[in-house]
Amino acid sequence: MDYLLRQARAADKELLVPWTSHTFAWGDYVVDSFDDWLTHPQSQVLVAADSTDEPVAVARGILLSLDELWLQGVRVHPKWRRKGIASKLGQALQEWGASQGAKVAQLMIEDWNQAARGQVTRIGFRQTAQWLRAFQTTEHSGRRDAAKVRPPDPLQRVGLAEAGPAFYAWSAGELSRLSRRMMSVNWQWRRLHPEDLERAADHGALFAGPTGWAIAAPRDSYLEVGWIQTTPDRAQEHLAALLGVAGVERASALEIMAPAVPWLEEAATRAGFELESLFLYEKAL
Ligand SMILES: CC(C)(COP(=O)(O)OP(=O)(O)OC[C@H]1O[C@@H](n2cnc3c(N)ncnc32)[C@H](O)[C@@H]1OP(=O)(O)O)[C@@H](O)C(=O)NCCC(=O)NCCS
Repeated sequence: MDYLLRQARAADKELLVPWTSHTFAWGDYVVDSFDDWLTHPQSQVLVAADSTDEPVAVARGILLSLDELWLQGVRVHPKWRRKGIASKLGQALQEWGASQGAKVAQLMIEDWNQAARGQVTRIGFRQTAQWLRAFQTTEHSGRRDAAKVRPPDPLQRVGLAEAGPAFYAWSAGELSRLSRRMMSVNWQWRRLHPEDLERAADHGALFAGPTGWAIAAPRDSYLEVGWIQTTPDRAQEHLAALLGVAGVERASALEIMAPAVPWLEEAATRAGFELESLFLYEKAL
């Protein structure tokens, strides 16, 4: 079974549909994202094509900053697995990233995905951090059992003046160390810089209150939180306050990405979140 790696093109999409629509129990996002992937200026999408030029595997790299390459969306047709294709795609994307100036490649894998974890380890990636995805529907989801939380100390949308205090509180705290100073946006992780908090404030996405800070922005009907700063004694209230923000913003659900630390996990469990464990991997280029 021979294959060649080549750049993906628009016509590949319909050929990916039959075998990438139900990759996971919840479905898959590859086909929905494919057009955006192809048109994004800092993105490279590769396929492995069989002897008839049909794609049998796909993967994407994107430069999230000048020196950070993010790898995502690797899918190999079930009949083409264990032939080294995902590894070849990963290596080709790393070469592309390095040629664009990237110094590190990063990716995320859910804890249960032993195949993907084994595969990236084989090509030299090291697990560098563990993250939690905390998820909860709100009263706007239409579900009767959804959360109805009225936090005592609400979080407010704040301006530029809070960006500095937020950054320094986080820098001095445990969450920055555990996260390796990273943040998440739309299931992509990269290093957080002070300007990210300033930009969030500019876009109305920085929230602050007595329990801490957060970057929160709508994604589809969800409120997505990809960065938080809080302390063990206020963590549960902070999460409840974020649910309050999700309610005010009329989001159907709240999705929080945060570094895995027992006190935050306990707080999230007590506050009624569903939890999922995610592993961040890195490799120097
Ligand atoms: C994970 C996936 C991309 C791997 O693709 P692949 O082309 O089969 O991987 P490779 O052939 O390059 O694997 C290289 C090594 O990874 C490890 N590996 C791959 N699949 C594995 C599995 N199912 N179980 C355990 N180890 C596995 C092995 O060490 C393998 O080497 P070996 O075959 O010599 O033992 C593929 O199984 C897939 O498409 N899965 C569904 C989508 C998915 O989970 N994507 C990743 C989301 S983060």
